[in-house]
Amino acid sequence: MRVLLLGSGGREHALAWKLAQSPKLSALLCGPGNPGTARLGRNIPLKAEAPDAVAALARQEKVDLVVVGPEAPLVAGVADALAAAGIPCFGPVAAAARLEGSKAFAKEIMAEAGVPTADFQVFTEVAAAEAYAVSRGKIVVKADGLAAGKGVIVAPDAEAARAAVRAVGAMGAAGQQMVLEELLEGEEVSVIALCDGERYVLLPPAQDHKRVGDGDTGPNTGGMGAYCPVPFLSPEALAQVGERVIAPVLEVMRRRGTPFQGALYAGLMLTRSGPKVLEFNARLGDPETQVLMLQLGEDLLPLLDACARGRLEQRALALAPGASVGVVLAAGGYPDTPRRGQRIEGLEAVPTGATVFMAGVEQKDGALVTAGGRVLTVCARGKDLAQAREQAYAAISGIRFEGMHFRRDIGARGLRAAP
Ligand code: AMP
Ligand code: GLY
Repeated sequence: MRVLLLGSGGREHALAWKLAQSPKLSALLCGPGNPGTARLGRNIPLKAEAPDAVAALARQEKVDLVVVGPEAPLVAGVADALAAAGIPCFGPVAAAARLEGSKAFAKEIMAEAGVPTADFQVFTEVAAAEAYAVSRGKIVVKADGLAAGKGVIVAPDAEAARAAVRAVGAMGAAGQQMVLEELLEGEEVSVIALCDGERYVLLPPAQDHKRVGDGDTGPNTGGMGAYCPVPFLSPEALAQVGERVIAPVLEVMRRRGTPFQGALYAGLMLTRSGPKVLEFNARLGDPETQVLMLQLGEDLLPLLDACARGRLEQRALALAPGASVGVVLAAGGYPDTPRRGQRIEGLEAVPTGATVFMAGVEQKDGALVTAGGRVLTVCARGKDLAQAREQAYAAISGIRFEGMHFRRDIGARGLRAAP
């Protein structure tokens, strides 16, 4: 099969790495890709958010399957354009990607599907939102539209709530409508289902680390590291999330005439009264995918292809034993103003037990330099979480670039909870 993979982050390098192991793969094209995907396939300069350009390239290259990594191409209608061109695509059409693109829409679907989530209200007026937020005290304020991970503010008291509403209200298009919701407490877990519009298979539960600093301090980021599986969600509890969250959402989306096909990512809070959905994404997570690809014990390509063609078999996936950990190495200044152009050293000496996925990296004058906030995800699989952590951190000790920073506690919560 000839596959075109869209995106250029660590998630896409990990998907390329896994797809490249498939005996069914005959060619891997990455648009636009990064220096990591270039080692596994052919990078093609491409604006992945331009539906017509993607469809034209897929046709020209006689692609059998397009795999969409990030959300922007989905929301822009890349899957719609490919459907019109008759080219199978892993990833939802724009009307289904609204589950991620609009928080208010996601809430509407959850209400219809009876999915447990935080109590909420939707506002279009800043003044009304402010009055409500202050009356509630602690609350979470979310911009309705896509805001590159910056549209959610957790406000622990009335003063913070007022400031949060004003900040989101001043955000422009994404903040025109906002969702104010109950602040939930508990462990956060990412559950990702590969779906064909009707059926699904569940990837093992992963935990992301969203704050920039150790001990979950500092501003939110795209994700500073992940591990899987997480000990807080047993295989039985995971299956229940499939039945109570994934299945009913697929059913409602189908009934509405916009079946969801692709990766349905449920961001969950494991509260005292059970798992509740914080958000849906219409794609695989980053950095969750990096560890999930290490942990998946079967060929990824037939799974994605079966989703795209509506022929998925609902069953348990084969998993590798043990656990995987991925630590993001971020550029100086991230998440505010990441410094570009810093030379990355030590990658050739990474120990064999570790796998390094590239993200904000570019090739310049024969060297690899930083070109974005999240630069690398250093991953390792071990016989258990403790060993996976040790191996990932040992591999990091040989990698350097000016301003490099990373969290030292990826997986620590899981380790504390492990039996
Ligand atoms: P989101 O982009 O919706 O995943 O939100 C980003 C982060 O904000 C989540 O990963 C949580 O850490 C936090 N968050 C979102 N909603 C809530 C909530 N209702 N209660 C507590 N924390 C939340
Ligand atoms: N790791 C969080 C996300 O992909 O949205």
